[in-house]
Amino acid sequence: MSTFAGTDALAIASGYRHQNNPIQVTAQKNKDFSVVENTPLRKRAAAKGLIYGAATQTSTLCLDTKFATKFAQECAMLVPENELKWKALRPSFNSFDFTRSDWLAHFASTNKMLLRGHTLVWHESLPQWFKAIVNNRNAEQIMLKHITTVVGHYAGKIHSWDVVNEAVFPEHGRADGLRNTPWLKFLGLNYIDFAFRMAAQADPKALLVYNDYGLEYDTPGDEAKRTAVLKLLERLKSQGTPVQALGIQAHLEGEAPFNAKKLKAFLKNVADLGLKIIITELDVAENMLPKNILVRDRLVAKIYEDYLSVVLDETAVIAVLTWGLSDRYTWLRDQKFRKDGETVRPLPLDAQMERKLAWYAMARAFDQAPMRVF
Ligand code: G3I
Repeated sequence: MSTFAGTDALAIASGYRHQNNPIQVTAQKNKDFSVVENTPLRKRAAAKGLIYGAATQTSTLCLDTKFATKFAQECAMLVPENELKWKALRPSFNSFDFTRSDWLAHFASTNKMLLRGHTLVWHESLPQWFKAIVNNRNAEQIMLKHITTVVGHYAGKIHSWDVVNEAVFPEHGRADGLRNTPWLKFLGLNYIDFAFRMAAQADPKALLVYNDYGLEYDTPGDEAKRTAVLKLLERLKSQGTPVQALGIQAHLEGEAPFNAKKLKAFLKNVADLGLKIIITELDVAENMLPKNILVRDRLVAKIYEDYLSVVLDETAVIAVLTWGLSDRYTWLRDQKFRKDGETVRPLPLDAQMERKLAWYAMARAFDQAPMRVF
């Protein structure tokens, strides 16, 4: 039995009253995050027919051998965090540079990991030349060339592609909930269907995913997003678009209102469309949580376990990917930094590559997940 439960965070927690979330602090006080054996996450997930993996970058794996070793031990799938984005792959209009993504693909296959593709069509991380060159006359050809070349380059080697990323944004006020992006402006709403069809042609074996964020919480914003995403998926399925899965990013927050019933219902609606579900970018922003590390880690771990226990109950969920593995490398350092100057701790391993309570919470969620039968 391996446990962190003996750590007495209670005394430290007693002085803490988080305005929006007093329940979590008391609810976690007796929480036992113990697990049986030290089996890594990839094996625990695999025992249930699930895949666990994480996003990382070429530079990180190249320079940090301790991290690379841990990554290979814990992860059965590698997601290039930035290397397959347009900005990274397309130094100029006429050229593609696969040097860094090929390095990751090699690392993945050497360590017997699956590889994900992230992402083909997104309104962010576009190269500088994009704005000057792409217009409504050439956008279709340019998208076609990109998808054919990039998906073709990795054909047969990719588990799943995030074909379209973050195309829904109800705040933009369109009746269909779509985001105003350059692609929508140049190609109209069928750009999504077009992208999926091109990707299916270039690699018939890869699972084709629509990926988005803001789908988790019991807020009007997330509710509107769930409705619009569902509407989009229904439309795509009804017109025969080869979308095969929904990617739920799951950038969780320490203090947002969680409603298991609503989330379950959404997952079921997606599954009923005949789609698989992948949790694609899981992490927990803890910048609003208390400073004390023991308390903070407990709260973060509880969020991981609560979220995963709901999500993994839906057997259409086939994989869980965290957006990073160690607190040493996380986008949240820059994006959701702590006002108290402390380093953020959103991931399963700490900055020294030691397992945190969040790791134990994930391990428990995998251990308790229902077996997937294919
Ligand atoms: O490549 C340059 C490097 O040359 C330079 O030294 C460095 C200086 O800061 O910047 C490097 O580029 C940065 C890149 O990350 C690599 O670290 C970009 O400026 C920065 O914008 C980029 O941020 C990434 C962001 O997506 C935008 O593409 C984050 O790492 C990445 O975690 C984040 O991931 C997104 C998913 O793709 C989609 N879902 C949300 C998620 C979090 O924002």
